[in-house]
Amino acid sequence: MAGVARSYKQNIEQMVVHQDDIREEEETLDESGDPLDESGQTVDSSEEEIEESVAEDMQRFEDSFVGINKRFRLINRIGEGTFSTVYKAEDLEYNRYNNNWDIDEKEDSKWSSPATKRRNSRHRPKYVAIKKIYVTSSPIRIFNELDLLRDLRNSENVCPLITAFRHNDQVIAVLPYCQHRDFREYFRDMKVPEMRIYFRNLFTALRSVHRAGILHRDIKPTNFLYNPEHARGMLVDFGLAEREGTDWHQCACTLSSEDRRYKIQHSVYAAHLNAGNQPSSYPKNDNRSSRRANRAGTRGFRAPEVLLKCTQQTTSIDMWSAGVILLTLLSRRFPFFHSADDIDALLEITSIFGRKKMRETSLLHGQVFETNIPSYSDQGHSLEKIILWATSRSGKDENGEKQQLLPEEKEAVEFLYRLMECDPAKRITADEALRHPFIARAGDDIEEDEDALDLV
Ligand SMILES: Nc1ncnc2c1ncn2[C@@H]1O[C@H](COP(=O)(O)OP(=O)(O)OP(=O)(O)O)[C@@H](O)[C@H]1O
Ligand SMILES: [Mg+2]
Ligand SMILES: [Zn+2]
Repeated sequence: MAGVARSYKQNIEQMVVHQDDIREEEETLDESGDPLDESGQTVDSSEEEIEESVAEDMQRFEDSFVGINKRFRLINRIGEGTFSTVYKAEDLEYNRYNNNWDIDEKEDSKWSSPATKRRNSRHRPKYVAIKKIYVTSSPIRIFNELDLLRDLRNSENVCPLITAFRHNDQVIAVLPYCQHRDFREYFRDMKVPEMRIYFRNLFTALRSVHRAGILHRDIKPTNFLYNPEHARGMLVDFGLAEREGTDWHQCACTLSSEDRRYKIQHSVYAAHLNAGNQPSSYPKNDNRSSRRANRAGTRGFRAPEVLLKCTQQTTSIDMWSAGVILLTLLSRRFPFFHSADDIDALLEITSIFGRKKMRETSLLHGQVFETNIPSYSDQGHSLEKIILWATSRSGKDENGEKQQLLPEEKEAVEFLYRLMECDPAKRITADEALRHPFIARAGDDIEEDEDALDLV
């Protein structure tokens, strides 16, 4: 194991992943894990039941990564993603280092006496998450993830990198262990006041990430580790993240509307139509090179501009994905979107927002959208209607009245429209979201409830 120092500067020196070794990747088409994949659960006890196969896997890891067992005691395997395996481990040398990443310790020390503090830190085991990045990952990807995490150190609600090690071709990242619950355990029961808190945590993380000019690219429940008991969430997994502006080339969405109209009127497609062809047909001999754009992410969470191969994607792609999480919570359906590929995903979005909106959105990025599937309406459906339908409230109530969303759900839907805005330039930013009444009021209604209880 190379070195044991914990300062970030030294950490990066430990990493023998040099820029020179890095090959330019061609078009990135990374598909992150299925949104349904297993995610780690909160487990407090250090003596957990582990399956035999997991125990064998941990043994192999310890044997191959020489020296790791001196620093960490592996406890369990908590995540198996597309790009890594994550283990829960006890940090055996916690007391030898400066642990300013440890928020639990910081919070404890606010409230406890010095004697309790000493007792706690001496006896309580300290857990970390060890992310074993698959050796098949390209050096550029590994370097990128650690480099971005280093830039994001000290960002609220972003799980910090404690240190990283390399042994031969194996790289591990060490992160604080974030207690959380599996999204599938709570998404059906989360009430609107709790949603406000969940998203305040998520947008606090995204505000820092976006201010640093970084796109996370893979916002989804398994990458936001939320602990409902502590009302705290931490953003993880910067494996697909990138700096805004990477490989940008001009997309029609950055042109003025006149210039965009001119471009569309003089496009190959317009010439094709002018030659008397049908709108749903395409040129036989099209010698334009195919369009390339980063489409990395997880199906179901990709923003329309990602699906439409926008070549100037911005941090706002993450806000759309956050919107998909809110839609999931309000509709109590997970995963909400479940497409086989990008075309399917575009059609799923069309089934909600309608053909007209999708045609406009596509043209924004210089793309033409046509579908001959008759069941998609031109105007689409309102999100209210979708949520009522998804929660079996589309019929009438006992008084024969049409069922309605609760006032707080209506407020949530208004906010959802700002996240699931198809034009990225009009979509709400993380900073604005935190000031939006839906989020700014987080915690108020819980206090109101508590006040009412006190009165009772
Ligand atoms: N700091 C942490 N504390 C607790 N659990 C964690 C931590 N980091 C990761 N995990 C668990 O491991 C899982 C996988 O981690 P991560 O998303 O970083 O890896 P990945 O290989 O990129 O995964 P995927 O391809 O599924 O997105 C997470 O969903 C989570 O359940
Ligand atoms: Mg992940
Ligand atoms: Zn664009």
